[in-house]
Amino acid sequence: MLYQVIPSALTGGDASVPGDKSISHRALMLGAIADGETRISGFLAGDDCLATMRALRGMGVACERSGDSDVLIEGVGLHGLAAPTVALDLGNSGTAMRLFAGLLGGQPFNSTLTGDASLAARPMARVITPLLQMGARIESRDGLPPLTIHGGSQLRGIRYPMPVASAQVKSALLLAGLYAEGETAIVEPAVTRDHTERMLDLMGVATARSGSSISLSGGQQPLATAVPVPGDLSSAAFLLLAAAIAPDCELTVRNVGVNPTRTGVIDILRQMGADITLESERLLGREPTADIRVRSSALHGIDVDPALVSLAIDEFPLLFIAAALAHGQTRFSGIGELRVKESDRIAAMASGLRSLGIRVDESPDGAVVHQGTFGGGEVASRGDHRIAMSFAVAATIAKSAITVLDTDNVNTSFPGFLDCMRGIGVNISSNES
Ligand code: S3P
Repeated sequence: MLYQVIPSALTGGDASVPGDKSISHRALMLGAIADGETRISGFLAGDDCLATMRALRGMGVACERSGDSDVLIEGVGLHGLAAPTVALDLGNSGTAMRLFAGLLGGQPFNSTLTGDASLAARPMARVITPLLQMGARIESRDGLPPLTIHGGSQLRGIRYPMPVASAQVKSALLLAGLYAEGETAIVEPAVTRDHTERMLDLMGVATARSGSSISLSGGQQPLATAVPVPGDLSSAAFLLLAAAIAPDCELTVRNVGVNPTRTGVIDILRQMGADITLESERLLGREPTADIRVRSSALHGIDVDPALVSLAIDEFPLLFIAAALAHGQTRFSGIGELRVKESDRIAAMASGLRSLGIRVDESPDGAVVHQGTFGGGEVASRGDHRIAMSFAVAATIAKSAITVLDTDNVNTSFPGFLDCMRGIGVNISSNES
């Protein structure tokens, strides 16, 4: 699939985005091993979370969908998962694979985790290494998927200082920790999203935070409850930037998660001059949520604070677009993790921006983006949803039409992206609609 975007006069107004991907994955997995019925509302019915749901069904968990965003899960309890009869195909989802590695490491049965070509190239040693220390038995292709997990190991708690700041690794170890004897403690080198901790708390599982360490005692049974999922800030960010760079535009995106471990993108855009305000701040379940208002803003280049990287980890492709429009230059550093996401996002953004006429100086773990004007033409998205959506935003303010190639995977995180963009006045079409 491809997108054709024609430079557009945005209308702004009100918008909403689908549910948070990270929270939806966690609600499914914790709901599956909870005691009782978990009702998820605001669930993200994107390809990644649907892959997690299919995998859970393959282990005997009844998940019933009603409408687009409600899911009812019959929890099977901590020890109720059934052996899958086929390999669990997790599609494009690194989150699903890493969290399942943790959840399945302490089960009595064997399982195999596979995925698409992009997932097959994602590093898994970061979860395998600590899980082996806990006593799990996992085989991989030299640290890459597929993963074969041998059942029947009694896990034991460890204290693990994570070499990489990763919420996926932290969450995998917390899930494994539920099955471990004693205490599992994870030390974070930088703050990462804490949705797992919040949802465990919502389900009655005690975790303890002490400085940069988070721990739990094994054997605690999560208790089913209602899990409301706010809109995904990582999706809302595309609309927010489109409105910020448009002339005379004001947009409010309603009901968006603003957990402080996720709001780095708002901080960075504000530092670049964006006029963004949070309104009606409230808690949805355990998750801070707000309506986010943005007004047209003149952006200027900054040196992005590396301390904000883990809090905005998925928004850097979009921030590269902001940087290309910002007065002067914008310097990104400490973003080497972007090279092992759904694509090498530094390389994908640098080459895409260059093809539109923007100067980018790339380094192994950073980039300097120089202000310019987007020309028209064709941009490759390397099958990466966030690269595709970022260039669709750039195209709204380009000199002429831009074609974004290879956009199918937008459905992994943001089904309905085209309609949302059209709803704020963007002239966007795909070769399928
Ligand atoms: C996620 C954590 C982040 C993020 C990913 C979702 C999660 O990955 O990039 O999109 O749901 O825990 P890392 O843990 O690899 O940083």
